[in-house]
Amino acid sequence: MLIEFESVSVSFDAKTALDDINLKLDQKRIGVIGLNGSGKSTFARLLNGLITPTSGRVSVGGVNPATDPKAARSQTGFIFSNPDVQIIMPTVLEDVSFTLRQSGLTKDEIASKALASLERFGIGHLANQAAHSLSSGQKQLLAISAIMVSEPKLIVADEPTALLDLANARLVSRVLLEQIDQQVVLITHDLRLANECDILLRFADARLLEVGEPSPVISSYLAENG
Ligand SMILES: Nc1ncnc2c1ncn2[C@@H]1O[C@H](COP(=O)(O)OP(=O)(O)O)[C@@H](O)[C@H]1O
Ligand SMILES: [Mg+2]
Repeated sequence: MLIEFESVSVSFDAKTALDDINLKLDQKRIGVIGLNGSGKSTFARLLNGLITPTSGRVSVGGVNPATDPKAARSQTGFIFSNPDVQIIMPTVLEDVSFTLRQSGLTKDEIASKALASLERFGIGHLANQAAHSLSSGQKQLLAISAIMVSEPKLIVADEPTALLDLANARLVSRVLLEQIDQQVVLITHDLRLANECDILLRFADARLLEVGEPSPVISSYLAENG
């Protein structure tokens, strides 16, 4: 989908979180880097209408998330750093099924679709476990299973591996970059991962400082902050 920002600014009271962002992107793997507080999460949240611009216009696949948040949310799945905040239902299978509650499918169809999604991401064997009993890595796979079951067009992942150990971070990263056909916007402090994206955005002090091939964007980030 085409992601378009036209003169987008976001302010919280006196604080400018994003300042005059202009971009047009349609790459499949879009990476986002930048120091804490640079505006990355604000950028991510504009994509599905969790935040609306103070001025300017966002368009994602022709949908304006500010004026049509329902359409924006149904086409965009959002993954947070903290997998606990994404768990809604008591068991793993119920949690994925919850995504399909208004799909018009029967209870059995929902359960079998939900199970297939869990199996796709390697956690089918955990279907009947209490969702909160899972490890952090398994919880992120649960969040991905729950989002993917509704077949969104775009996945926005805001530091999805920040709370994971190395092995789980690697597992979740591989799933996001290699196992998902959808377009992915990936915010990360893992520069190795950022380097695998098709294009990299670098935010600094509420501004979009650089957009381009990952390698030079990472080099200047390291040079300025290393
Ligand atoms: N809801 C909010 N209220 C007030 N200030 C906010 C809010 N959300 C973000 N900010 C501020 O906007 C700036 C950008 O935040 P954010 O987009 O979360 O940055 P990042 O994700 O890069 O760490 C920060 O200075 C942050 O403190
Ligand atoms: Mg953030």
